[in-house]
Amino acid sequence: MPTDMTPDGKSAQSLAPLGPGATIGILGGGQLARMLTMAAHRLGLKTHIFCPDTESPAFEVTPHHTRAAYSDADALDRFARSVERVTYEFENIPVGAIAILEQHCPVMPGAKALAICQDRLAEKRFLSGLGLVVAPFLPVETMVDLNQARQRLAAPAILKTRRLGYDGKGQQHIGTDTESGAAIAALAGAGAVLEEFVDFDAEISIILARGTNGEMASYDPARNTHENHILATSTVPAGLPAHVSKMATRIAEKIATAFEYVGVLGVEFFLCGETLIVNEIAPRVHNSGHWTEAACAASQFEQHIRAVAGWPLADPVRHADAVMQNLIGDQVRAVAAGESVPGCKIHLYGKNEIRPGRKMGHLTRLTARAR
Ligand SMILES: Nc1ncnc2c1ncn2[C@@H]1O[C@H](COP(=O)(O)OP(=O)(O)O)[C@@H](O)[C@H]1O
Ligand SMILES: [Mg+2]
Repeated sequence: MPTDMTPDGKSAQSLAPLGPGATIGILGGGQLARMLTMAAHRLGLKTHIFCPDTESPAFEVTPHHTRAAYSDADALDRFARSVERVTYEFENIPVGAIAILEQHCPVMPGAKALAICQDRLAEKRFLSGLGLVVAPFLPVETMVDLNQARQRLAAPAILKTRRLGYDGKGQQHIGTDTESGAAIAALAGAGAVLEEFVDFDAEISIILARGTNGEMASYDPARNTHENHILATSTVPAGLPAHVSKMATRIAEKIATAFEYVGVLGVEFFLCGETLIVNEIAPRVHNSGHWTEAACAASQFEQHIRAVAGWPLADPVRHADAVMQNLIGDQVRAVAAGESVPGCKIHLYGKNEIRPGRKMGHLTRLTARAR
């Protein structure tokens, strides 16, 4: 049996392009899976969503879904048999679930990228190993570790859990007078990294796609602002010198190549002067790439589906300047009530309950491309 063939033979043609009507399985049922599904449908493909939550925004846009836990081996097995490829909308999928799925069909992006990106410590070591700059960091599990790390790193710093953090969750600011004991107690036994606070000039991100044949396509960098650690806006063009944009793209390409990545990858950077510090990598479509649905012929969602389907990537060229604004919590009310927002493309995620900090939708304001 060829090494790329699974027991049921499905991945014997693992790199062959999917034909019309083929089904891509997606782990996770949030807004990213919803937008991936909408993009897949436009390309004549189907999706099947696997998600434990009852009210998943993605369930509403495809009739094919499985509601089950990521630890439910039988459900994963049935799901994998019903699709041609599997992808995911978030990185906190147990690696064990991927191993079950891989018995039946290719999972893209692969297990290596997933395993590294779901652990901040592994991610930072991987990035340093590639010769990339990251904020100075040290692993922390105990009070002794934390006190030693505080001696060795400059203050202030941020204590981040290794796993399961998003939108600033699992992060604590460690100033000179922070009690180490309280900080360790708040981790509740979770492993963490202490990372120096970076006094950056800007935050930027690159959204890059890599195809099954290794071809890569990057969108223009976005300049991002955060409020309460949640992405607030992404602006393109980012107003960077051309060589800095190029360097950011090269770094994202280096990461994707090292992972033998297939799909869309988001790379977040802190820009300090002309130094690009890699903050984190998302092995999936990324919130700071939502502007692509309004300002490019092919969005990051289409690009991801193309890559996973084994199709040629689309041209990532931008036809307009764009400012994407997230609609967080109550911010969605006016738009959902029909207030017109001139010059904006609106996208709401169909979430019934508005909660503080919850991503409810986004707006992209387009203007004529200046350069
Ligand atoms: N070392 C740091 N120095 C300065 N700001 C930081 C640092 N780490 C995180 N932040 C801020 O918090 C935001 C969220 O942190 P991040 O590490 O990207 O985690 P996540 O997006 O998974 O919550 C960043 O985009 C940035 O604005
Ligand atoms: Mg982040």
